[in-house]
Amino acid sequence: MTLPKPGFVPTIRPLIEAAPPPPPEIQEGVDRSVARHRMFQPASDGADLRPWFQTLADLPAPPLSWSALFGNELPVELEIGSGRGLFLCNSGLAYPQRNFAGIECDFKEGLRAAERFKKRRLPNVRLLGADARLVLAQYVVPGSVAAVHVYFPDPWWKRKHHKRRLFTRAFLDQCARVLQPGGLFHSWTDVAEYFAMQVALFDSHPAYERLPDPPEKTPEHDLDYRTSFERKKRRAGCRINRGLWRLKDQSDIPRNG
Ligand SMILES: C[S@@+](CC[C@H](N)C(=O)[O-])C[C@H]1O[C@@H](n2cnc3c(N)ncnc32)[C@H](O)[C@@H]1O
Repeated sequence: MTLPKPGFVPTIRPLIEAAPPPPPEIQEGVDRSVARHRMFQPASDGADLRPWFQTLADLPAPPLSWSALFGNELPVELEIGSGRGLFLCNSGLAYPQRNFAGIECDFKEGLRAAERFKKRRLPNVRLLGADARLVLAQYVVPGSVAAVHVYFPDPWWKRKHHKRRLFTRAFLDQCARVLQPGGLFHSWTDVAEYFAMQVALFDSHPAYERLPDPPEKTPEHDLDYRTSFERKKRRAGCRINRGLWRLKDQSDIPRNG
């Protein structure tokens, strides 16, 4: 994939609301509501995990250049809330002709994931320690992402905490801005009520269309799950909701949509 030239505006852009700025509490870095205990911690052996794990302080000023981050021009898929990095690791190994970038606000988890990537010296996997909403709003170039993946986002069970949930109209706007037309949005969760809320948000967004739900796969071994949470929840007998959406091409979107 070649990065858009300066001044490039994806054709879908005028039809999506101008991406809103991130809420004030995350403009300084990491939202305290999602990262109360998540301070920077060195890797267990004190090793430098760059380039696999980087914070915003390690990056040049925005916009983020995927080709500089990966050292190649391959298409980029973005995972938000990567946890221990199983999806990034498996995907990086399975699809060497694609790049996988994760964003994880819990640095401890992110560093643990990066140890996996470093051990395998994965050239096409990178993890950013940051709040994804800040990265989407201020760093990612419009139309530069082939797919967005969100697996088992924090459910924030209490009603008074629902406002902390990742999925909002503003979040879908931000993702629509960074996705290429035709780009895919994968979202899985075991929380049926949160999934229903996501479906309603996508249904009311003019830029996305729903595709058939991906089928459940029978794992062949312990690491043959989409993510660590999928393994944990399936072993606990939970039903997993698997949603897939596509960013429409401009010509598919009703003008008054
Ligand atoms: C329930 S865990 C799921 C982890 C992984 N996706 C999996 O399925 O195993 C949710 C993850 O999202 C991360 N997270 C939550 N909000 C985030 C945000 N705004 N930016 C980046 N990461 C976030 C949390 O730190 C946590 O690691």
